[in-house]
Amino acid sequence: MKQTKPRSLLGIEGMEPREITALLRLAARMNPARPSNTLRGKRVVLLFYESSTRTRSSFELAAKALGATTLLVTATSSSIEKGESLIDTGYTLRALGADTIVMRHPSSGAHWTLARHLDIPIVNAGDGMHEHPSQGLLDALTILQRKKTLKGLRVAIVGDVFHSRVARSDAHLLTTMKSKVVFCGPHDLCPDEMAAVAPGVEVSHNLETALKGADVVVSLRVQKERLGGQKISVEEYIARYQITPEKLTLAKKDAILMHPGPIIRGMELTSEVADGPQSVILQQIANGVKVRMAILQTLLKRRG
Ligand code: CP
Repeated sequence: MKQTKPRSLLGIEGMEPREITALLRLAARMNPARPSNTLRGKRVVLLFYESSTRTRSSFELAAKALGATTLLVTATSSSIEKGESLIDTGYTLRALGADTIVMRHPSSGAHWTLARHLDIPIVNAGDGMHEHPSQGLLDALTILQRKKTLKGLRVAIVGDVFHSRVARSDAHLLTTMKSKVVFCGPHDLCPDEMAAVAPGVEVSHNLETALKGADVVVSLRVQKERLGGQKISVEEYIARYQITPEKLTLAKKDAILMHPGPIIRGMELTSEVADGPQSVILQQIANGVKVRMAILQTLLKRRG
């Protein structure tokens, strides 16, 4: 969180292990069921240029649990539809009293632009294919709750890795914290170049190889239309890469199964896996509120 002044959360890349650890420790202590007045008087603006269920709702619940006021602005039904620019939208929200802007935007790097123009923290709630830092943090918290450490774990991230901002944030965080990350999918959805995302990341196009010995399996959404122009058919994808109970047995016996959501049952994974005993998908969602409370408190508490 050192990329800009005032501090913003723009991405996981470049964060120090101690910054990640501090946020995760704070998140672990957060209790959304016990509201506080820590951020009373603060205005948290949720600026969403893309749809969202989990991220938007949990940032709102997190802000409210800390006593802040929230304001939702979406691209549809706001003056963004009339052509107002990102910067002018930011200036407008700041003039209305925003103390922070939590933004989801389809363009990679849009948050850096906003952060350069505004004197308040900007929180990246997902930018294009680039990063989704709060998801990376909540994934890490979920792994920690189950595995007690991030160090030395083997984490297989399977599906449409190329288009996934979650894959990138997870890889940055997990490699920084000394986990081994293996990206897996067909060449078009998981090109070999994805190994360059973070030091030590491996790419495999073979699900069995990727899952063997994994402590954590992260399934990613695969949209049928993304396979449309690709060299692999939907049927072939399912046969080779869908995570089924049988495939999951290749991972360690106590491996956990994660997914950032939304899940597409029957595509990247089966319902038996999504709802099975190794799935921690609902725990991830619940942890989203705790992590986002920690982010908002860290960025806003010491600001006047
Ligand atoms: N994981 C995630 O970002 O989900 P939403 O798109 O519903 O926010």
